[in-house]
Amino acid sequence: MAKILVTEKLADSGLEAMRAAGHEVDVQLEWTKETLLDIIKGKDALVVRSATKVTEEVLQAGKDLKVVGRAGVGLDNVDTKAATALGVMVVNAPESNIISAAEHAIALLLSQARNIPQAHGALVQGRWERSKWEGVEIFGKTIGIVGLGRIGGLVAQRLSGFGVKLVGYDPYISEERAKKYSIELLPLEELVKVADFITIHLPKTKETAGLFNKELFAKAKTGIRIVNAARGGIIDEEALAEAIREGKVAGAALDVFSSEPPTDSPLLELPSVVVTPHLGASTGEAQDKAGEQIAEQIILALAGDFVPYAVNISAKSISEPAKPYLAVAEQLGRFIAGLFDRLPNQLEVEYQGLLAGEEVSMLTLSVLKGVFASATEEPVSYVNAPQLAEEHGLEIREIQSPTAKDRVSLITVRAGNHEVAATLGSDKMPRIVSVDGHSIEVPPAPFMLVVRNNDKPGMIGIVGTILGNADISIRNMAVGQTAGGETALMVLSTEQPIAEQLIEAIRKEKGILEVHQITS
Ligand code: NAD
Ligand code: MLT
Repeated sequence: MAKILVTEKLADSGLEAMRAAGHEVDVQLEWTKETLLDIIKGKDALVVRSATKVTEEVLQAGKDLKVVGRAGVGLDNVDTKAATALGVMVVNAPESNIISAAEHAIALLLSQARNIPQAHGALVQGRWERSKWEGVEIFGKTIGIVGLGRIGGLVAQRLSGFGVKLVGYDPYISEERAKKYSIELLPLEELVKVADFITIHLPKTKETAGLFNKELFAKAKTGIRIVNAARGGIIDEEALAEAIREGKVAGAALDVFSSEPPTDSPLLELPSVVVTPHLGASTGEAQDKAGEQIAEQIILALAGDFVPYAVNISAKSISEPAKPYLAVAEQLGRFIAGLFDRLPNQLEVEYQGLLAGEEVSMLTLSVLKGVFASATEEPVSYVNAPQLAEEHGLEIREIQSPTAKDRVSLITVRAGNHEVAATLGSDKMPRIVSVDGHSIEVPPAPFMLVVRNNDKPGMIGIVGTILGNADISIRNMAVGQTAGGETALMVLSTEQPIAEQLIEAIRKEKGILEVHQITS
């Protein structure tokens, strides 16, 4: 059972799913920057929306954190770089609210074009202001979509029914994607010259912060109108207010602000500006989907499974046949690392049989997780394992070959002069099947002793007597020989770790060639 902290309102269905998976869910909606550093202690997972700033300080305070879940799209409130360095997985729910956000952008655009909120406000106060709130049609107009990802694409699809011309700016998408939505791609400076409306669907990054600024407004078509339901700070609010006052920009519709709630934004005083309080994702449908999707990702992450929406792991997918081998791969990493005092700088992972031809990068990541989990004191996860490999100068080579002698599938890890192979047993649990050329059949266990010796009678007795005299019970034992019978190898699982002096005593016995302890 893991402890999950939820710091913002999350759909009940999401909370229920996490509880049903056996986790303790602590919903704390009242907190300050300071108290957050305290309530995060001892939690394995944190679930937030956009108000909680998951800074490096918060991540450092959450020493037990394994995963941060963002119940929504934007990750600008999560320090993903710091999370990666600390081995904390970051997941989001990227598909959950995109329809709601796209519909909200269109609602804002039409509200701005027809002054709906202003006219509504006047009428409910008793003023029938028909001529004051004359608007503009969007039919026949040019609409610029800036950012043609998931939401930008949905907005384009929905606008195509209005008889508008679509232009777009997004240097990271293909011509094919633009063509699919009948969008003419233009550089941003060209787009602002021809567009009557612009709708922004960018993430907030270093590149996009302040992208819509004084200089850009100066180049824009006079009378342009701007919609932003993406992120505050992409527009320089002072510059936009000035451009509206000057008549360069005819108006704006904004769901997001550089500081939320906006207390002194000059835009709030302008009659041609329509605003909503970050409502893009505020529909029952989007909140249910965000809660359920994030709960699903958190449950997978806590179980150590592959997490499809993890944003800071290098392997982006795993094929169905490869999935059950995640634990095998991790155990192999742990086993091979235990055979060395100091890790060599090259590691080879071979996938044979059914696994050849599958998407296995996630399995290699799992091997690395196992390697570093036993080789370092730092918390190791799928997230920081590649970074640790880089820091330790460990090069990884992947090989795939269709044949696997006598096995459906086999994973073999080689480093220095050691080689360990494992597969899934008929009980679907990992089995080590070969160690340094000795055939053996042993399930991985928390404490294992690997002893290689000359293949002669009495060796098992020697090891058994030393352990027995020290009151160490052996839970499981397997013995294997090399094909030529030169040496033998025993793998013993014990109830508890074995003290270094006992290991030394075994090493000193005649006929013992090497002894390694492998712990989890
Ligand atoms: P996405 O990642 O699918 O799309 C973003 C697009 O922006 C991508 O195509 C990318 O290539 C493009 N892009 C990135 N950097 C760029 C740059 N410097 N110049 C031009 N294009 C660039 O994201 P999405 O799911 O479509 O979300 C878009 C935005 O909407 C995000 O900021 C998200 O946080 C926000 N959002 C807001 C609400 C809300 O409640 N108002 C709801 C959901 C999402
Ligand atoms: C998002 O990025 O998903 C939205 O801004 C919605 C939210 O923060 O809840």
